[in-house]
Amino acid sequence: MVRSVHNPLLFECAWEVANKVGGIYTVIKTKVPVTVREFGDRVVLIGPLSYKSAPMEVESEEVEPGTPFGDTLIQMRNHGVKWVYGRWLIEGAPRVLLFDTGSCYNRMDEWKTDLWNLAGIPAPPNDHETNETIVFGYIVAWFLGEFAARETDKAIIAHFHEWQAGLAIPLCRKRHIDVTTIFTTHATLLGRYLCAGSVDFYNNLQYFDVDHEAGKRGIYHRYCIERAATHCADVFTTVSHITAFESEHLLKRKPDGVLPNGLNVVKFAAMHEFQNLHVQAKEKINDFIRGHFYGHYDFDLENTIYLFTAGRYEYRNKGVDMFIESLARLNHRLQKAGSKTTVVAFIIMPAATNSYTIEALKGQAVTAQLKETVAQVTARVGKRIFEHAARYSGEHGTEVPDPATLLSKEDQILLKRRVFALKRNSLPPVTTHNMADDANDPILNQIRRVQLFNRPSDRVKIIFHPEFLNSNNPILGLDYEEFVRGCHMGVFPSYYEPFGYTPAECTVMGIPNITTNLSGFGCFMEDLLETPDDYGCYIVDRRSQGVEESVNQLTGQLMSFVTKSRRQRINQRNRTERLSELLDWKSLGLEYVKARQLALRRAYPDSFDDDEPDFTGVKRVGAPLSEPGSPRYKSGMMTPGDYATLTEEMEHLGTSDYMGAKSWKGINEEDDDNHYPFPL
Ligand code: UDP
Ligand code: G6P
Ligand code: GLC
Repeated sequence: MVRSVHNPLLFECAWEVANKVGGIYTVIKTKVPVTVREFGDRVVLIGPLSYKSAPMEVESEEVEPGTPFGDTLIQMRNHGVKWVYGRWLIEGAPRVLLFDTGSCYNRMDEWKTDLWNLAGIPAPPNDHETNETIVFGYIVAWFLGEFAARETDKAIIAHFHEWQAGLAIPLCRKRHIDVTTIFTTHATLLGRYLCAGSVDFYNNLQYFDVDHEAGKRGIYHRYCIERAATHCADVFTTVSHITAFESEHLLKRKPDGVLPNGLNVVKFAAMHEFQNLHVQAKEKINDFIRGHFYGHYDFDLENTIYLFTAGRYEYRNKGVDMFIESLARLNHRLQKAGSKTTVVAFIIMPAATNSYTIEALKGQAVTAQLKETVAQVTARVGKRIFEHAARYSGEHGTEVPDPATLLSKEDQILLKRRVFALKRNSLPPVTTHNMADDANDPILNQIRRVQLFNRPSDRVKIIFHPEFLNSNNPILGLDYEEFVRGCHMGVFPSYYEPFGYTPAECTVMGIPNITTNLSGFGCFMEDLLETPDDYGCYIVDRRSQGVEESVNQLTGQLMSFVTKSRRQRINQRNRTERLSELLDWKSLGLEYVKARQLALRRAYPDSFDDDEPDFTGVKRVGAPLSEPGSPRYKSGMMTPGDYATLTEEMEHLGTSDYMGAKSWKGINEEDDDNHYPFPL
């Protein structure tokens, strides 16, 4: 019996399902509403079980015995596999299945031997990440095999993200499990490693001896898993054209298409609502700044610009080196111009720390005390004014008190004591935490090199917060989203960035941002918009010019942004926010629909008798061209859906046919590592 391709079942599997690490969590989580709209309860997300985060993320449910799904899981439990099944507590409330890899570590040696015999993939004993990948992959393949044997009517699509979730793909293929598979990679292992080191990556993509390079970096076994997943999948995709190009050369399979990342865009009923949120969030950042700069708070917050960069700590890949260098140049230019504007630049990147510094905690404490004292004094002053004004003194016109008498001696002493506590001899620290390895930290060393030490004369101040944000933190107690809203601009000058959610998230919140043409998001916007700058979407060219030129370009962009008037900033935020429709899963989700259709066609070609793919029930969102002031899309580019390329024909096209690669010429020959001006 051939399975029915109508109403197929979908399992979407990723290491970051209900388990936040980086951007893949955002992909899965924000895409859920459109996936659930299409599949309802026919979709189940599969991820690893973390006993720490699962109780917060998932409401567990019993499985139903007598169903293929329930019986499969009950049988696996009887064999010692632990799992949690339930609803992921996010918008869309999808069904979610989390496997406890720890419950199967006793089988690891057996599975490693099997992997070697089956695919010739070696597995060293002490690579924890690979061990997790292997155990997780074998559990998922076990599940799919048992499930597909019980559920024989409907076609089953198994969609895997990234190599940590991908090992089940070769296992399904070798075991002839009747599921159709999609592998979406969000980076390549080798790409990330090569770029982080001192290699001229983009000019040499075609020439790397991949096995040798992987071996040199001790990741040969991981690379083998990634490559096996890539080659065994029915459909192979990635998140941007630049990563498609990279995958073709490093993984040796040309992707079937590109599935750009979207977001779950929430539109406010009132257009100005997001502007109000900006001011509210900015006020909270202002509070932090008053505390952090206590004793040196000599600048005007009404004339202060907040810049930030954020993400996993990948110093060179995320372009932090370039950001800090440009900040130093911006500082110099603002000083030379005699500017009164102050720029505060935040770097939010988790690193190993030993908690907050005493100074950072003290700053918040002394300003909080001052605030409290001022509130008490104000209340007393208010009482005095009222009392004086209400009381008839026998002579009309004397009810209004003399301001000089309003502050009592005690109040003055109290205030003096608080103000005295704000005195300090040291400069406001550049970091909020005690770093575990202060002397060798690349970000701190770069800050030291350019000497951005938060001196009173510096127009650019810097704050490195080596921990992800959380509203429960005692310092900078805001959630990441609120923090982004409160800032003026996000700066992400990445060297290696397959997509890059952080600037995309800025965009949908109406916060202007800077990316590069080496990031998937930057290329995506550059391909869609005629004049990205006008919409607060600045793109640094890191392809066709040397590092020195790129740093100057970035400095110029920062300079022109921080010298804008408030009115100009408000206008630009409005324009940026309008771009959010380009990033909405409501339209970008269509590329996933295409990928699934292609997977079904490849697995069950006889079930399709027409020539055209059938994107049942899915309507493309019309182009927003009629709205006045809407972004001007490049000619012929009507929707982001037109941008992606997922068709059977892709197979027969050459590399140069990736849209993003059309103008690809490699980056400037001079831009090799000998010219790299920053210490690595
Ligand atoms: N992020 C976060 N808290 C922070 C900084 C970043 O939750 O303090 C999130 C951010 O919202 C984004 C993700 O981390 O969704 C980073 O994704 P991106 O694609 O930019 O980079 P990746 O880490 O996947 O390379
Ligand atoms: C929003 C608010 C305005 C406020 C402005 C501050 O647009 O609606 O009332 O003046 O933000 O903008 P700024 O760029 O100076 O933070
Ligand atoms: C990866 C990439 C990042 C991308 C994310 C989601 O972690 O580093 O650029 O945005 O996956 O696709």
